[in-house]
Amino acid sequence: MSASKINVAKQAMDFIKDKLTSSMVLGIGTGSTVNYFIDELDNYSHLFKGAVSSSHASSRLLKSKGIQVFNLNDVNGIDFYIDGADEVDKNNNLIKGGGAAHTKEKIVASAATDFICIVDKSKIVNQLGEFPLPVEVIPESRSLVARRILALGGVPELRIGTTTDQGNEILDVKGLDLSDPEAIELKLNSFAGVVDNGVFSFQKPSIVLISEV
Ligand code: A5P
Repeated sequence: MSASKINVAKQAMDFIKDKLTSSMVLGIGTGSTVNYFIDELDNYSHLFKGAVSSSHASSRLLKSKGIQVFNLNDVNGIDFYIDGADEVDKNNNLIKGGGAAHTKEKIVASAATDFICIVDKSKIVNQLGEFPLPVEVIPESRSLVARRILALGGVPELRIGTTTDQGNEILDVKGLDLSDPEAIELKLNSFAGVVDNGVFSFQKPSIVLISEV
């Protein structure tokens, strides 16, 4: 598995390395695949300005490589956002949030001109929904949101021991019909107390790179 993730991280580096400029700020996602991409970036850190990160974990890793981390509020734009995914369908809709970082990942992805998604083959699916869908909730609204999700036909489970970078909780939801990703993304986000859910049907990647091994 790590060989696959390293392979696709190297593909992403090959794709962007000739496009880097001294004023460029990259968007960086979260997860084990992106961690390998950050390792690759280490050799090119002198060729771009810095990065906007989607999590404390990625920020720490970027800083450990000497890469400057900017607040999204302090940059005008992001050329490339690079991130993994938990599932990718044939239309490039995603499920993300296995690492509880999907809320900030979606924000940074939406600020980018191009979202490059890097995955191993196991993440490619015909239809989203095998992977439990992460839903970030304000802690006080957890039970209320869980009842709304049950009424939709989903089975929510609190991710014990996980708090997001924003101090919220994650409900992992099985059993929802995700055949219309846009509809379910909007529906879940309409529930008071939901911060964001892990369907990416509006901030889809423009490029999906898949491991060759
Ligand atoms: C983080 O919250 C997620 O969206 C990750 O991007 C996703 O879980 C992929 O992670 P791996 O690269 O570790 O498989």
